[in-house]
Amino acid sequence: MAVYFDNAATTPLDEQVIEAMLPYMRNNYGNPSSTHTHGRQVRSAIEKARKKVAELLNTSPAEIFFTSGGTEADNMALCCMVDTYGIENIITSKIEHHAVLHTVKHIEKAGRAQVHFVDTDKDNGNVSLQHLEHLLKTHPNAMVSLMHGNNEIGNLTDIGHVAELCVAYGAKFHSDTVQTMGHYRHDLQKLSVDCLVGSAHKFHGPKGVGFLYVNHATSIQPLIYGGAQERNMRGGTENVYGIIGLAKALEVAYTGMESHKAHIMALKQRMMEHLTAAIPTIGFNGTSGHLDQSLYTVLNLCMPDTDDNDMLLFNLDIQGISASGGSACSSGSSIGSHVLNELDRSEGRGSIRISFSKYNTEEEVDYVCQKLAELYPVENA
Ligand SMILES: Cc1ncc(COP(=O)(O)O)c(C=O)c1O
Repeated sequence: MAVYFDNAATTPLDEQVIEAMLPYMRNNYGNPSSTHTHGRQVRSAIEKARKKVAELLNTSPAEIFFTSGGTEADNMALCCMVDTYGIENIITSKIEHHAVLHTVKHIEKAGRAQVHFVDTDKDNGNVSLQHLEHLLKTHPNAMVSLMHGNNEIGNLTDIGHVAELCVAYGAKFHSDTVQTMGHYRHDLQKLSVDCLVGSAHKFHGPKGVGFLYVNHATSIQPLIYGGAQERNMRGGTENVYGIIGLAKALEVAYTGMESHKAHIMALKQRMMEHLTAAIPTIGFNGTSGHLDQSLYTVLNLCMPDTDDNDMLLFNLDIQGISASGGSACSSGSSIGSHVLNELDRSEGRGSIRISFSKYNTEEEVDYVCQKLAELYPVENA
């Protein structure tokens, strides 16, 4: 049996997305910047895609810029906000994705702004909003960058509350929403955020395409210079089929969101119950074990008596189970997950990130539970 439980790393394409993209691979190959018929047809499809994304997020198409993915969109938001607004202080957390952490470190190293980290709870990884307020009070001319859903431990931050604090203290606000886009509804008429990010491959769209939302009241300089694409905000011929696929994937995600959520939450609950019964000393990292408080797609298992996490994942892989030991981006790194390192954890514990999608089944959950139970017989658990 081959089962895929690494959907926070990437998701399989939805068949409807493939169907939507195919005509732009086979027939509609014009360059959207060309003024002839072939070009105009493709330009019109891109603008329809932009309109669709904007409609779903309850905002206007002029605020959506297509990028090569979440990493580029995060880079664009952070670097360009700092440069455009002369931001002096960046307030973020140590559990952000490297797309944010490495970018802010680079900005600081270049002497463009200072970075300050909001405290996170050592038990569950939650960001302290009291400390955020303190940092905002004491650091004027600031920009806050806090993610909505954590890709490793599933923590959800109340970005509505963060946005209110940013408004109160006159700070700019960027949120990495890569893990919640397509899984939660974002209403940009209600959320006071300057920049927000999406990446298609996290919601059954193609890889290598994403978008940055920039609020109409916020006007930033480009990150990539070149042609006049994306209204002079991102040079380079557009990833046409990627953009078509992204819009279709977001539409499909919004249409089925409530039923997908119910299906996935039931699977997550089933896995938690079965694993707790089979391996009583198992734990769940971050808030991922609290169904109502965490990203419903992520369950981070804290495994007892595990000296070699790579071997554990390897053993699962041999059984046909694809999961990850933290973030996909940190696999192969000997220093382990920078997110788990922020939590107080007992020695000798392993970590397996199980991340679900609408395509997972009860049978697959039962298979993983059975294989893990075999690796952790009760007398050793
Ligand atoms: C929270 C978060 N931000 C950013 C990214 C980067 O997105 P992309 O793979 O589209 O560059 C990821 C991908 O793992 C992510 O999980």
